[in-house]
Amino acid sequence: MARRTLTFVCQNCGAAHNRWQGKCEGCGEWNMLSEEGDTAEARGPGRKPGKGRIFALEPLTGETQDAPRLASGIAELDRVTGGGFVRGSVLLLGGDPGIGKSTLLIQATAALARTGHRAVYISGEEAVAQVRLRAERLGLAKAAVELASETSVEDIIATLSQGAVPRLIVIDSIQTMWTETVESAPGTVTQVRGAAQALIRFAKRSGAAVILVGHVTKDGQIAGPRVVEHMVDAVLSFEGEGSHQFRILRAVKNRFGPTDEIGVFEMTGAGLREVSNPSELFLSERDLGQPGTAVFAGIEGTRPLLVEIQALVAPSTLGTPRRSVVGWDSSRLSMVLAVLEAHCGVKLGAHDVYLNVAGGLRINEPAADLAAAAALVSSLANAPLPADAVYFGEVSLSGAIRPVAQQAARLKEAAKLGFASAVAPEAAKADAPSGIRLTEIGSLAGLVADIAARGKRLKSVS
Ligand code: TYD
Ligand code: MG
Repeated sequence: MARRTLTFVCQNCGAAHNRWQGKCEGCGEWNMLSEEGDTAEARGPGRKPGKGRIFALEPLTGETQDAPRLASGIAELDRVTGGGFVRGSVLLLGGDPGIGKSTLLIQATAALARTGHRAVYISGEEAVAQVRLRAERLGLAKAAVELASETSVEDIIATLSQGAVPRLIVIDSIQTMWTETVESAPGTVTQVRGAAQALIRFAKRSGAAVILVGHVTKDGQIAGPRVVEHMVDAVLSFEGEGSHQFRILRAVKNRFGPTDEIGVFEMTGAGLREVSNPSELFLSERDLGQPGTAVFAGIEGTRPLLVEIQALVAPSTLGTPRRSVVGWDSSRLSMVLAVLEAHCGVKLGAHDVYLNVAGGLRINEPAADLAAAAALVSSLANAPLPADAVYFGEVSLSGAIRPVAQQAARLKEAAKLGFASAVAPEAAKADAPSGIRLTEIGSLAGLVADIAARGKRLKSVS
């Protein structure tokens, strides 16, 4: 008889250890190892070692009978997936509990069902009545979505293998699913992985597009869907802040499309509303004429996006002044601060610095350097920046301002939204549309001098 082997699997990262220990060697987390039995899925069902089935190898060029993509009808979602759901693909939608994953997906299944495709929504968390109630609230009760409240992967696959292949299957959430092929308790990493594997196999075999919902908990109590990330074709993350109505859908990984596009939604009383012009949304609550705010002309994927960057620089009472940043990279902030000190004579060593990107957005572009620097200097000098100006440009370690990609698109968006001037890297003039007054900046020191002069001028007027 084969000996049953025990492994200790980290519930955070899925690393397996052959003895218990306090700290996981894979991810460094403490108290995350839990005992799990030897799994059949690791060996493959009913396979003896050394015996394999012979399969045919296919050429790269082949016939695909049906359109491989299916647009969901929700433009912001399709933008992120790269044009719709791919047949036979599996997508993981991650996000904090309560962010709106179930709402987005019931809207997507309903939109698809309306166009005559078979769409199935399986909830492992809510009863059918609850899902119905939500659909009613969203005005989707008439859509021909097929619903079930189930958690057994084998039952789900058996049911869905009957009749026409569904075009879209939503599994909400992967943490609630369990498969008989794995002995561990539901919710453990091994179960999550086993259930995901079975559903992925089903998707590939049947050609249905499957969306797995995964909750991300900060304390790591539930087995994180991280272990599933490398198994699926695309990982989307649904982000937002509780205090804001905006929700941002972002592709973290996408085998069939871009990963730099974002989809913007607004959570309303009647579900998620698409926001096709996000700049208006992110600028709508702007504090005009306050020191410490600058409008950044950014690009997310292929779409220009104007956002407000806010800074507060205040004398510190702490031995080590505070550096706090929300929505931007903190090492990028340190770099801009260092360049301001080294090349522009701006002394910030005794000041607390806070930087915030308005609206709960996260910016990854280096092009935001100039806007962040402008906001910082504006706050320090107590000099408001012109309310009709946008800023963009990358700051190099020497203090020079470097040109960035897609300058024309940034300037066009600014002109469209009524901005009259732009502070940009040199050589941006060729890209400027009429109606935008361009101030070309060669170095960060030039920007600091401009803002400082503005501060003095404003003081002498008042
Ligand atoms: P939900 O989709 O259940 O989140 P998740 O599946 O990610 O856990 O959304 C829950 C939140 O959304 C809840 O706090 C209420 C809010 N909400 C609205 O504001 N409007 C709506 O129309 C719906 C359905 C939910
Ligand atoms: Mg939910």
